Amino acid sequence: MKHSKLVVANWKMYLNIHESSLLVQRLDKKIHLHRNVEVVLAPNFLSLYSINQEIDKRKFRLAAQDGFFVDEGAYTGSVSFSQMRQLIDYSIIGHSERRRYFNEGLGEVRDKVAAAVRNQIIPILCVGETKKERALKETKQVLHDQIVTALSNLTSQDVLNLVIAYEPVWAIGSTEPATPSIIEEAVSWIRYQIRELYGSEAEESVRVIYGGSDEPEYVNAIMKVPGVDGLLVGRASLNYEHFSDIISRVHLVALSQENTKAEDS
Ligand code: PGA
Repeated sequence: MKHSKLVVANWKMYLNIHESSLLVQRLDKKIHLHRNVEVVLAPNFLSLYSINQEIDKRKFRLAAQDGFFVDEGAYTGSVSFSQMRQLIDYSIIGHSERRRYFNEGLGEVRDKVAAAVRNQIIPILCVGETKKERALKETKQVLHDQIVTALSNLTSQDVLNLVIAYEPVWAIGSTEPATPSIIEEAVSWIRYQIRELYGSEAEESVRVIYGGSDEPEYVNAIMKVPGVDGLLVGRASLNYEHFSDIISRVHLVALSQENTKAEDS
């Protein structure tokens, strides 16, 4: 199964309902419909409903930034995947800010991934090492543990649609993304984990995207890294000019890759 490229806008805890709506209107004017790029917006819970009413569904799909792993019950302050299933196609799960500020451990991330899948929502599972873990040469172990636990309740069929975002924690909110060689090494390790667990069909079908200081000028280099299917964009997604520029660049890379493939075959 071959998917189009995927670009996810993580608006984090920015923008109120009005500002979210304004950003969507601006993006709608700037962004063209590209058959080879899927654009997913992840507003906060508060704005999900109104944004769902407003977007052109051919151009944009929606993601939550998180969700609770129980479908319904006495859990004050939580929103479940089952409550959001009519509104979203995707959910970011296990973002490092959740792991860090909300103490989300491996088991919680696993349960959230399972809850999303149970509700027909595609998980965008975030994995990545901290600066300290990289310095201690623990990157592979960290990625292995995060992936193996998070997917432990999924069947090989569930995994075919999955998205994994490689987000080295040290590159999030930084001045530059990770280098292409660091991204390549991590992405190939991530795909290797999937192959070991679920076989080569799953390895090929899983979409692996990169997040951490994605700005327009870095898009070409990142998108050309073998095995990278897209981007998870934080800050630059709040600026409609930068984000639409990112989408056009991803589209152009996708086009040139399609042409190369056509020439080769
Ligand atoms: P950034 O955030 O693009 O602002 O670095 C990325 C993310 O946290 O998903």
